[in-house]
Amino acid sequence: MVAKVLEALRPGPGGCYVDGTLGGGGHAATLLAASSPTGWLFGCDRDGAAVEAAAQRLAPFAGRFELRRGSFSELADWIEHRSCDGVLLDLGVSSPQLDQPERGFSFQSEGPLDMRMDLRQPFTAEKLINEWSESELARIFWEWGNEPQGRRMARAVVRERQVRRLETTGQLARLIERMVPRRGQKRHPATRVFQAVRMAVNDEISLLKSGLAAASTLLKPGGRLAVITFHSVEDRVVKEFGREKSRDYTFEGEVDVPALRRPRPPELRWVARKAIPADAAEVAENPRARSAQLRVMEKI
Ligand SMILES: C[S@@+](CC[C@H](N)C(=O)[O-])C[C@H]1O[C@@H](n2cnc3c(N)ncnc32)[C@H](O)[C@@H]1O
Repeated sequence: MVAKVLEALRPGPGGCYVDGTLGGGGHAATLLAASSPTGWLFGCDRDGAAVEAAAQRLAPFAGRFELRRGSFSELADWIEHRSCDGVLLDLGVSSPQLDQPERGFSFQSEGPLDMRMDLRQPFTAEKLINEWSESELARIFWEWGNEPQGRRMARAVVRERQVRRLETTGQLARLIERMVPRRGQKRHPATRVFQAVRMAVNDEISLLKSGLAAASTLLKPGGRLAVITFHSVEDRVVKEFGREKSRDYTFEGEVDVPALRRPRPPELRWVARKAIPADAAEVAENPRARSAQLRVMEKI
């Protein structure tokens, strides 16, 4: 997605860019290289290890960036409003997070049920799986994992934890695999449940909503917001945000009744109406990109 992000944000000398999800700093380095010699980058990540890795990766651009540990929902607290030419949010987990079993994000390796992006936070996946009620578990498995068997899985988790506390990724993955055998399917049956638990542990949807609003306030007129999503639940939030900000009216409540609309100027416009998928070459290079989609909006 790197080339597509560059095409969307059009970094150039003297521009100011924000990477709200630094990860290993790959996108940030590309933005700094493309805006040489005078472009500036603000960057953040909730994960302290990611901020450290990004700082190392960006060392060749010293003097041209400021990095902080924190959520992108707080960007507008430390970056001047209407001062930036581009903001990137590359959502979800990073490869280093998934590849370290001790972070507990992956059902493919044995590790503690952790899944915190910010290790300063006390709430872990272990607490969620062992302490949330059956109905709360069923709700998140369905809403954030789109898991059609969410209720059944929630019931099985509750039954299992009455016997012994679920403490590892392997215990949870095997419990689900026993209920829904793989039968040659590529996708592990625990994929959706792990996604839902991760989203709940990290409060991802509510931070995404406030992050999108914060990102928009940072942009100058003509500045662009690029968001990479990895599944339909995230993408729906981004699409809904873009739809709301590109309308020339607001309305109260849930239902858009034409007679009750209140006119107001739109804040953003879509650069492309449709989400831009990763292409075959990108997927060949990084199989995790197969579900990535890019949406781009421009500040009016
Ligand atoms: C897909 S990775 C980003 C990879 C990055 N673009 C790169 O080039 O290496 C997503 C990153 O976003 C971070 N993240 C997720 N939610 C966040 C939030 N609300 N605020 C800040 N960082 C967040 C994760 O910790 C993770 O490091």
